[in-house]
Amino acid sequence: MGILDRHKVLEKNATLLLVASFAVVTVGGVVEIAPLFYLENTIEEVDGVRPYSPLELAGREIYIREGCYVCHSQMIRPMRDEVERYGHYSLAAESMYDHPFQWGSKRTGPDLARVGGRYSDEWHVDHFTDPQSVVPESVMPKYAFLKDRLIDGEYIGDLMSTHRFVGVPYTDQQIELAQADFVNQTDPFEGDGVIERYPGAQVRNFDGEPGVSEMDALIAYMQMLGTLVDFSTFTPDASR
Ligand code: HEC
Repeated sequence: MGILDRHKVLEKNATLLLVASFAVVTVGGVVEIAPLFYLENTIEEVDGVRPYSPLELAGREIYIREGCYVCHSQMIRPMRDEVERYGHYSLAAESMYDHPFQWGSKRTGPDLARVGGRYSDEWHVDHFTDPQSVVPESVMPKYAFLKDRLIDGEYIGDLMSTHRFVGVPYTDQQIELAQADFVNQTDPFEGDGVIERYPGAQVRNFDGEPGVSEMDALIAYMQMLGTLVDFSTFTPDASR
């Protein structure tokens, strides 16, 4: 009997075909999935990536609450047109502390993975207050109310504990000082501790108004997006 004739037996017997297919898929699945359970971490570590500062984390919560991810992605794909427009393609490590991740699946507006530093704080204030005032054809909604909503960071330590529970390596000290760091990131005279605990954090009054507002938090988050990794020195680790 030739191999084709033997195959005919499988093709003519539905039950046998089903059992054989199942066996093939099972073996394939085990080979692909089992090793993942034995790896500590599947993400290549990259210098500069750190957990969010309390103010950035609060800004991220506002981003999620307002549904910004419905119109914006945070994931630059490794394709030429994307890299030319948005910058270096996104690394897995850059979203390793995101719970949940904000990769998104729709781009009504541009990708935001590297928007940090692209515009001034003032531009962001104007743009959030009235997007059409800076980009007349924009369909982005207005978020002027964020400026009037003052927040005190009372619960930010709790949120950080929750993130620690799912694997973000916040230290006891970071959680203890969360509320102070939250406020101090908007104060250039008090911000040294924030920078020490969150290297690369930007300390300033983001919305230009007294008090910490949701606008401050959201802009602090925008301005750090994509700025943690220094791509002039980054080389992918090919050994893993
Ligand atoms: C209805 C869809 C929509 C929603 C919701 C939306 N945006 Fe936008 N966004 C846009 C569009 C379209 C643009 C491009 C035109 C412009 O700059 O306004 C844009 C531009 C931007 C830019 C400038 C990006 C660049 O590289 O030029 C930022 C930053 C931004 N949005 C942040 C946000 C944030 C934060 C939220 C949530 C608070 C949000 N957007 C919600 C549609 C949206």
